Amino acid sequence: MRLGEDEARRLDADDPGHRELFLVPPAEGGDHPETAYLAGNSLGLQPRAVRGELLQELDEWARLGVEGHLEAGRPWLPYHELLREPAARLVGALPAETVVMNSLTVNLHLLMVSFYRPEGARTLIVVEDTAFPSDSYAVRSQAAFHGLDPDKTVVRTNDPLAAIREHGDRIALVMLGGVNYLTGELMDIPGITAAGHAAGAVVGWDLAHAAGNVPLRLHEWGVDFAAWCSYKYLNSGPGAVAGAFVHERHAGADLPRFEGWWSTEAATRFEMAPVSRPPRTADAWQVSNPPILAMSPVRTSLELFDAVGMPALRARSERLTAYLQSLLDPIGVEVVTPRDPARRGCQLSLRVADAGGLSKTLRHRHGVIADSREPDIVRLAPVPLYSTYHDCWRAAAAIAQEVGA
Ligand SMILES: Cc1ncc(COP(=O)(O)O)c(C=O)c1O
Repeated sequence: MRLGEDEARRLDADDPGHRELFLVPPAEGGDHPETAYLAGNSLGLQPRAVRGELLQELDEWARLGVEGHLEAGRPWLPYHELLREPAARLVGALPAETVVMNSLTVNLHLLMVSFYRPEGARTLIVVEDTAFPSDSYAVRSQAAFHGLDPDKTVVRTNDPLAAIREHGDRIALVMLGGVNYLTGELMDIPGITAAGHAAGAVVGWDLAHAAGNVPLRLHEWGVDFAAWCSYKYLNSGPGAVAGAFVHERHAGADLPRFEGWWSTEAATRFEMAPVSRPPRTADAWQVSNPPILAMSPVRTSLELFDAVGMPALRARSERLTAYLQSLLDPIGVEVVTPRDPARRGCQLSLRVADAGGLSKTLRHRHGVIADSREPDIVRLAPVPLYSTYHDCWRAAAAIAQEVGA
């Protein structure tokens, strides 16, 4: 493998990312001081700039108290406006269709309150068979909230297009992961959205593993609604504030919504009126005032995405992941992620006998951070912003040593 290591170093020299902008955790084991961090699909690394920006908000709070709402360097009252345009660019949305708020599952619920409207025989919700548990629980609880039996209402499928053909006019909502958390498969978001619409259903997407990983054009694809988290590919910290998208054709529509004082037009917020006047934008889905200390890392991180740009990131992502696959192939380990770069993001998922055991060994013996999902999947995500060819080489060399034929 030494020859391979030289090649990895050469590739890093020719095709560098932006690792210098991030804090890479130190390795506990292996021959290198830093971890080969391939778990950005779970929790992205901390951008170096985050600490200073966060300290600035803490200082302003100390210096200004409540006056910071209007007088902070970046006033807190309209702070969420700073995140709207970069978030919209990231998911291919109009600014008015985008809002950064809450966390992911909360946003899915707020959006389903509006967009899951079972009526007559049209009650079904289609999800992937391998939906992330939070999504499964969310859709089941939405069905129950409407007095429906979740077992009869939620359709789990490996083939969403076939399920849409089969259940047609009984489907109220199709809600899928844009990139599947387990297999790393990138779904045909425009194709499935169009098929769902042709069947008369609403189509929403959980973009937890897609935002910042693959290029998205939510507006053009006609997606009804979407939500994503910011702690994975968006590197905004554990439990970071999430995003939401509502297509402009629903703006101002007569939809049920849960409201709070942040749902009303900003200009009317301090009129203290008993009835809200919601804007005709995604902001109408906001409820509470935003957590500035949690928004600051999201803003810092989105600036990085703006500076580098998704096209460049996606191009480097395809090269890195193809390189990792080329190292894994000869080892003979089963990769369950599609081989076609158009059908995956950066993550490769391996099927192994003892996934939990392998990921622990990778960490403690080799300083390689991957993660496992029970019972048999290890996920490796070379993230184009900060992962290196050498990280991929280290992961493959360690896996070859532990499970290779
Ligand atoms: C696909 C997917 N959906 C939902 C969630 C849950 O997110 P949250 O805890 O931010 O609501 C996750 C978390 O990893 C996820 O991967």
